[in-house]
Amino acid sequence: MRHLLSAGDLSRDEAILVLDTAKELAQVSGRSVKKYPTLRGRTVVNLFYEDSTRTRTSFELAAKRLSADVINFSAKGSSVSKGESLKDTALTLQAMGADGVVIRHSASGAAHRLAGWVDGAVLNAGDGTHEHPTQALLDVFTMRERLGHLEGLRVAIVGDILHSRVARSNVLLLHTLGAEVTLVAPPTLLPVSVHTWPCAVSYELDEVLPKSDVVMMLRVQAERMKDAFFPTAREYSRRYGLDRERFARMQRDAIVMHPGPMVRGMEISAEVADSPRSTVTEQVTNGLSVRMAVLYLLLGGSESGIGNQEGQA
Ligand code: NCD
Repeated sequence: MRHLLSAGDLSRDEAILVLDTAKELAQVSGRSVKKYPTLRGRTVVNLFYEDSTRTRTSFELAAKRLSADVINFSAKGSSVSKGESLKDTALTLQAMGADGVVIRHSASGAAHRLAGWVDGAVLNAGDGTHEHPTQALLDVFTMRERLGHLEGLRVAIVGDILHSRVARSNVLLLHTLGAEVTLVAPPTLLPVSVHTWPCAVSYELDEVLPKSDVVMMLRVQAERMKDAFFPTAREYSRRYGLDRERFARMQRDAIVMHPGPMVRGMEISAEVADSPRSTVTEQVTNGLSVRMAVLYLLLGGSESGIGNQEGQA
């Protein structure tokens, strides 16, 4: 594979390879010298057309830990139309010889388009409401670390599924890895095509909670909503928020996940977010290792299974 555009493109073996490589690379964070020379002389461009805290800094640090040169291109505030500006930018990056381009864009499909314009590897860091494959990889990495296995794991993904690229990528990857996913949301926050996704669907959080090993809460993506999708924030929170009472009804070993940014008091209470069974900060830590693994496999590793084999250093 040359690019990472969709979590659904990964075979089971490729996904496991990323997770195992990430596990190996995680050890570097504990060393006094935190860098590998693997991507020395390679250039990684971070092309962020949308706001980001975790994903952007994580990709930047991951590339630096592998000794790549990193260019951060922030397109915020640009008024040029999407298709045109993206293509022009791509041609510029191409002319500079970028080996890898990490792109976040508000248009679903932007990463796919970019992949047709540049020679380097394209890594999708979130395209509109479509996909966010490295988030899914870091999420399954976290589940495997915490719970020891993925096969047969019962995962509930709760909240604004309609606007969530995190949900779609997780459903695809978890299905590939043998987990059972149930999406939980009000009908208005589910995509019409959800019956074609490889997962179950429920409107009742209280029914799904006690049967789940993992409960992944999602933020209500107000910035992507033009209309009202539920009566009030309070009403949403009452039915779909993970508060102390609901948390108490989860299985004893079940974990709570959230990709961030969290809206405390809305989809998750502060108490639950800060509980030892919440993996929110571990997810961020694991994100670094997973992104190092993906960059290594796509840009560098001659022995890698999903890497671009050309031009090895
Ligand atoms: C998510 C995203 O941007 O899709 N965040 C992330 O990458 N950690 C989810 C969100 O914005 O709610």
